[in-house]
Amino acid sequence: MAIRTAKAAGVRSPGRAAIAARTLRTDRWWAYPLTTFIVLLAFIAYAAYAAIANRDYYAEPYLSPFYSPCLSFHCGTVPGSAGAPHLGWFGTWWIVTPAVIILIFPLGFRLTCYYYRKAYYRSWWLSPPACAVPEPSRRYTGETRFPLLGQNIHRYFFYAALAFNVILTWDAVVAFDFGGHIGIGIGTAVLVINAVLLWLYSLSCHACRHAVGGRINHFSRHPIRYKAWTFVSRLNPYHGNFAWLSLVWVALTDLYIRLVASGVIHDPRVF
Ligand code: FES
Repeated sequence: MAIRTAKAAGVRSPGRAAIAARTLRTDRWWAYPLTTFIVLLAFIAYAAYAAIANRDYYAEPYLSPFYSPCLSFHCGTVPGSAGAPHLGWFGTWWIVTPAVIILIFPLGFRLTCYYYRKAYYRSWWLSPPACAVPEPSRRYTGETRFPLLGQNIHRYFFYAALAFNVILTWDAVVAFDFGGHIGIGIGTAVLVINAVLLWLYSLSCHACRHAVGGRINHFSRHPIRYKAWTFVSRLNPYHGNFAWLSLVWVALTDLYIRLVASGVIHDPRVF
């Protein structure tokens, strides 16, 4: 009962020290939530534009990660995407762009990510904006109720993200194929880095760590899982770094291919 009362009243609950000041912190605690807010807003705005634009996502052999895999026969027929490979699973269905359907999975993975949860709870909801800075809301229920209870779906988005990583890795491999000749362009490097960063982000995921090493009583009886858990545990402390790097790079990858496909820039070939 005491816990419920504290949750309902938050930092102003009975028994908490009454401090008139908004916070006693004197450092620039607001820098992290403000930067996070700006970067996430910029990514959301760019991703929304790229997903709705429905053009300029393929410049052979580069396919934008926002439109991979192309699901409809219409892929390859819109401006700036001539010849784009497609799966045709959705026939000629074209009510929303392929990117809108595809983005459900990587965005779901990121939205439910433990790291991003901290980031947008602090920067978008100010809940709380920083340690030792109270949130404006008087009520706090954490992730115990709908809709935040749904954050538990993260482990399933993790498996979907792995499937997308395989697809985007294949796109990076295909980016070496210039009409039957092996070559490397700047776009090849961009797509390879994109795939590597996405793998690092996924493999450092907390759900991944649990998937490979959780529910085991004796690591000595599971040496392979122990090795996998040790590997993931080494990556895990850098999960936040991989989260930002992969987010920014996937947007830059789309932007690079968009500029090449629309003819704004030329893709320099290394060989
Ligand atoms: S915790 Fe961040 S992707 Fe799983």
